[in-house]
Amino acid sequence: MNTAIDGMAVSQTVRYMEQGDVAVILLANPPVNGLGDTVRLGIAEGLSRAAASAQVKAIVLAGAGKVFCGGADIRQFNTPAATAQPTLRQVIRQIELSSKPVVAAIHGVALGGGLELALGCHYRIVTADASLGLTEVNLGLVPGGGGTQRLPRLIGTVAALELIQSGKQVRGSKAVALGVADALIDGEVVAGGMAFARRMAGQAGPHPVIAAKPPADAAGLDFSAQRAAVNPRARNALAQGTAIACVQAATHLSLEEGLDFERSLFDELVAGPESKALRHLFFAEREAAKLQGQAVKTLPRTIASVAILGAGTMGAGIAMAFANARIPVVLYEREQAALDRGMELIRRNYAVTVSKGSLSAELMQERLGRIVPTLDVHRLADADLVIEAVFEDMAVKQAVFKQLDAICKPGAILATNTSRLSIDDIAAVTRRPQDVIGLHFFSPANVMKLLEVVRGDATSDEVIASCMKMAQGIGKIPVLVRVCEGFVGNRMLTGYWREAGFLLEEGASPAQIDAAMKRFGFAMGPLTMADLAGMDINWATRKRLAPTRPAHLRYSKVADRICELGRYGQKTSAGYYRYDPGSRTPIADPVVDALIEQCASEAGIVRREITDQEIVERCVLALVNEGARIVEEGIAQRASDVDVVYANGYGFPAWRGGPMFHAETMGLDVALKKIQQLHATHGEHWTPAPLLVQRVAEGRVNF
Ligand code: NAI
Repeated sequence: MNTAIDGMAVSQTVRYMEQGDVAVILLANPPVNGLGDTVRLGIAEGLSRAAASAQVKAIVLAGAGKVFCGGADIRQFNTPAATAQPTLRQVIRQIELSSKPVVAAIHGVALGGGLELALGCHYRIVTADASLGLTEVNLGLVPGGGGTQRLPRLIGTVAALELIQSGKQVRGSKAVALGVADALIDGEVVAGGMAFARRMAGQAGPHPVIAAKPPADAAGLDFSAQRAAVNPRARNALAQGTAIACVQAATHLSLEEGLDFERSLFDELVAGPESKALRHLFFAEREAAKLQGQAVKTLPRTIASVAILGAGTMGAGIAMAFANARIPVVLYEREQAALDRGMELIRRNYAVTVSKGSLSAELMQERLGRIVPTLDVHRLADADLVIEAVFEDMAVKQAVFKQLDAICKPGAILATNTSRLSIDDIAAVTRRPQDVIGLHFFSPANVMKLLEVVRGDATSDEVIASCMKMAQGIGKIPVLVRVCEGFVGNRMLTGYWREAGFLLEEGASPAQIDAAMKRFGFAMGPLTMADLAGMDINWATRKRLAPTRPAHLRYSKVADRICELGRYGQKTSAGYYRYDPGSRTPIADPVVDALIEQCASEAGIVRREITDQEIVERCVLALVNEGARIVEEGIAQRASDVDVVYANGYGFPAWRGGPMFHAETMGLDVALKKIQQLHATHGEHWTPAPLLVQRVAEGRVNF
């Protein structure tokens, strides 16, 4: 639904009109009617006019274009306009004091400050498909315009906290059921709003003001239990805890006191490092999807059908990702048994989601119905996009792509899910290298949001643009990268794991390294991660790359020796740790300790006490240094893309913003100095990335 712009301008971004006994104040600040200074001013002016007009009995507040209001105007963040008078709090106060009822007529979205504005109104009516939410926690913030004080007063503390703490959006119909909104809008937004306003004007006052009443269930929530239940590893744990404190304040403070309390905590969060990091990632994720250069202007191809080769771990997950997004999938395997295993894996995964209550049985059937298993390779012929997810072996992949080249329709996009191999070498065996691209999904592919879109030398802009758009369409966060060993994410792991291996030899234990990295905020430590991913896979990569490894460089044999014992990680119940049958809990293993000591002594290393600080610095700075090279080489489009990859695919703490942002927060000069010290102590592996040196020399604080 689109609301037309009408009426007279009362500020640069707000229109006002009177139709009989109803005044309409229309926010007109594209793209989302963000609450910038001129919008706030315009609403205040509109309210004053309506108050002064003898004929006006009721007021409608609505948004021009596609939405009611998306919240604060992010373009004005950190500018004087953001805090210019009237503030949102003052505007809302003016609404609440109006003797003529004010109705928020909501279509599209009412998010953050947009919903807070609506909560100031006497009535809220919504279209069924509108999205409402206080989503500030996603940016490491709490609502700062009264949301934490008014929503509990409107729908109770339990329901309010659920919305505020989760940052989730609810549809219009759900908002009515929850009591956030009074009714659904019948017909066009402004007309529907006016009809409703006229009805309310006819009712005896006073009209409901949320501020006037305390929360109905003030005693209904155990706030300390709620606080204890916050996952300390959640990206926004601090904001969640603050949201709880604010809602609790609503139960015992007056509205004005509560608003002061909320605002002071909001101000603290805005200035704090966590929210800065989360806001950085928020923008970085949106930026990552944008293309630079020619590809920007290209029209993407339509991708309405997908075929996948290989129904293993990845193929099955990728099939689910498309089926979930309502795109039909043909899933191909060479043998019935493998196909059955793949379909069984998919069914099991869906069944788990259903048992958790996050998916209905009907929806599961619908999704399963979109995945068509086949042993007939010719069924791939009509697909718009074909994704290969067979074994990680160049010869196997090249054979598959030769076959695809022969079978697939002209214009089909031929993608590989390889995590390391060269897209160019794969494309070279086809007669259409321009249509070949890498789509590096992460495991589990139906859950993980990150997608490295790997462009080969010959990949066309049209194919790139199509895949970036497709990725967003299925809810992924795409990052465009170029071909190199391991692309962005896995390439950076090499240095990260290298340092972990060296630290083991120098005196740390696997448990100490993993605990230190977890304390830094990683979802899991590097050695637990290696055990989870399967140590054999990296072993194979190391063997493949051995001929390219300079002989004079230090090399830790620990990982190879563990693999030589047949210990491949969780899948064999033993790797860096041992695991009880069926358990994923790592247990320290004296066999590994002895093996590490053996490797150290063979390499002539005298083991010493290693501090947690050294562990964190060496592992994290290895990521930073390699990330800087990746940016310099143009493998990633921008430094923030590296952050997006690491925060979304590798468990880097989002509240630190990703490795590159972390280095910027630490100070690029400080990061460089530490790397130079490591270079002096540990040698060539630590040669500082030229880009980092250059940035510091230029006095720049960002990459
Ligand atoms: P997998 O071993 O679980 O599955 C591979 C499947 O491909 C098997 O079911 C096999 O029967 C089938 N297959 C082999 N040759 C085939 C052919 N010619 N035609 C049709 N099917 C064939 O392997 P996984 O883990 O799913 O990996 C697949 C690809 O995804 C590899 O390139 C891997 O590097 C990549 N990848 C794996 C990730 C992971 O975490 N496992 C993450 C990201 C990428």
